[in-house]
Amino acid sequence: MKILIINGPNLDLLGEREPGVYGADTYESVCAYIREKAEGIGIECGFFQSNSEGAIIDAIHEARKTYDGIVINAGAYTHYSYAIRDAISAVKIPAVEVHISNVHTREEFRHRSVISAVCRGVIAGFGKDSYVLALYALGGIR
Ligand code: DQA
Repeated sequence: MKILIINGPNLDLLGEREPGVYGADTYESVCAYIREKAEGIGIECGFFQSNSEGAIIDAIHEARKTYDGIVINAGAYTHYSYAIRDAISAVKIPAVEVHISNVHTREEFRHRSVISAVCRGVIAGFGKDSYVLALYALGGIR
C-alpha cells in the first residue's frame, strides 16, 4: 500500500514554529518518524509539502495515479480552502485529515474544517502520531 502524506502551509517550519503547540521536531525528522512507523506496518510513504494552494491541489490530482490514499494536513487551508476540498472530492482514493494540535481547543476559526466532509475521517491532537494513526486508519480500509 502506498500513501502520500501532504503537508500544507507553514508546516515546513516545524520545530521552529510555535514549538509549544507543534512540538520541537523538524519537518524532516517528523517525515523520518512517519516513514519508519509506516514501514513497520507495510506501508510505503511519499511526502509532499507546499505553502501554495495550487501546488497542493496538483499533488492531490497526481496522487490518484500512483497512491492508494492520502494523509493531509492542509494547515490553515483546512479552514477555508474550497478548492482543496473539491480536489479531495474529485479523486477516488481515500483521504484522512490530520492535525498535529487539537484544533478544537484553540481559536474559534480553527474549529471549522471545510475538508472534513470529503475525508474518510479526522485525527487531531496527537502530535506527529496523528499522521501515524491516520496510516493505521487507511491500512484498515484497504
Ligand atoms: C494545523 C492546525 C491549523 O489550524 C494550523 O493553521 C496549522 C497546523 C495542525 O496541524 O495542528 O498550520 O493543521
